[in-house]
Amino acid sequence: MHPTVPPSPITLTVEAASRSYPIWLGSQLLSQAGERLKGLLPSAKLLIIADTAVWEMHGETLANSLTAAGFTYHLLQQPAGESTKSFAVLESLLEAALAHGIDRKTTVVAFGGGVIGDLAGFCASILLRGVPFVQIPTTLLAMVDSSVGGKTGINSRQGKNLIGCFTQPHAVLIDPSLLATLPQRQRLAGYAEVVKYGLIADADFFGWLEENGASALASEGEQAAAAMLHLIQQSCAHKASIVGRDEQESGDRAWLNFGHTLGHALESALGYRGTLLHGEGVAIGMVFASDLSTALTGLPASVGARLRQHLQAVGLPTSYQHLLASDADLSVANLLNLMGHDKKAEAKQHHQGTLSFVLLDQLGQARLKKDVPLALVAQQLEKQQA
Ligand code: GLY
Repeated sequence: MHPTVPPSPITLTVEAASRSYPIWLGSQLLSQAGERLKGLLPSAKLLIIADTAVWEMHGETLANSLTAAGFTYHLLQQPAGESTKSFAVLESLLEAALAHGIDRKTTVVAFGGGVIGDLAGFCASILLRGVPFVQIPTTLLAMVDSSVGGKTGINSRQGKNLIGCFTQPHAVLIDPSLLATLPQRQRLAGYAEVVKYGLIADADFFGWLEENGASALASEGEQAAAAMLHLIQQSCAHKASIVGRDEQESGDRAWLNFGHTLGHALESALGYRGTLLHGEGVAIGMVFASDLSTALTGLPASVGARLRQHLQAVGLPTSYQHLLASDADLSVANLLNLMGHDKKAEAKQHHQGTLSFVLLDQLGQARLKKDVPLALVAQQLEKQQA
């Protein structure tokens, strides 16, 4: 039997102000990682920072591919989970990398989801004042969002992602076949970020997702794989375009925070214990921001209705009512307070009676509104407290 020759990957380019780099996207691409990276990186030495569970499942494929292409690697493993994005873990990784004797031409390879990507990218950005790094994302969320665009960092006691920097990778290699081993709940959470691109930038893509999203997520087989590839490609193209226009989030990149203001507040109130995944919070937050948009920008209520219907159809939450029974403080006052402290909300105006929100003017068109009245936000939250 002849081994199947994988088709050439799709290549997208991120043209960020600080660096241009490829996103390679293709099924079974992990086994071509070595070949792809050869010639792109300054030396054959790699430091792989991997999610322990991912390495167990897919490490051999990556290792074989790298070794066959002449790379040598040192492996550091960490479990996934927000608590991994800490000073303590950062310190242990940096010390281990230095003790191993990395040099400035050693490339850090991030192999895992968003937590590992953010952490490994931050390690790369400060080790020896900066070494190259490559992202090999293994969750849908990391494939469509966090691996592209160069945000790296760890969490602080004061909040999520408050310590870090923008450092673009040298390449992003996406193999959607790795999603076969991703739990469905995680896959859905990543899908919320996919829906976001339709809402903020591409009405046609949103329509396509309404038609095809559920089957891409639920089924196996060639058609589902092709749909999954398409939705990842579209998402990465939107992300690349936005990052190309605004690498450091002084303008359009803020649109990517659509749904995140309430989403982050809920995650923070619930304590990052897995009760609510990031993408689930984003799904709830996107419905909330659509309702605010209807009140403030004249977004037709039908857009919010379509959004609710689509999220429900795929199995994502549209409100936080089901979480009210938890022991977390989801009172209006606490959520308003947390939204006021969210870095992404630019919400320093909190004390002036307003909050910043990314809103929709219409389906596929977003804008940052910095003076959303707190009273209106409180009123919308009250509706979910019933
Ligand atoms: N995840 C949002 C951003 O990269 O800007």
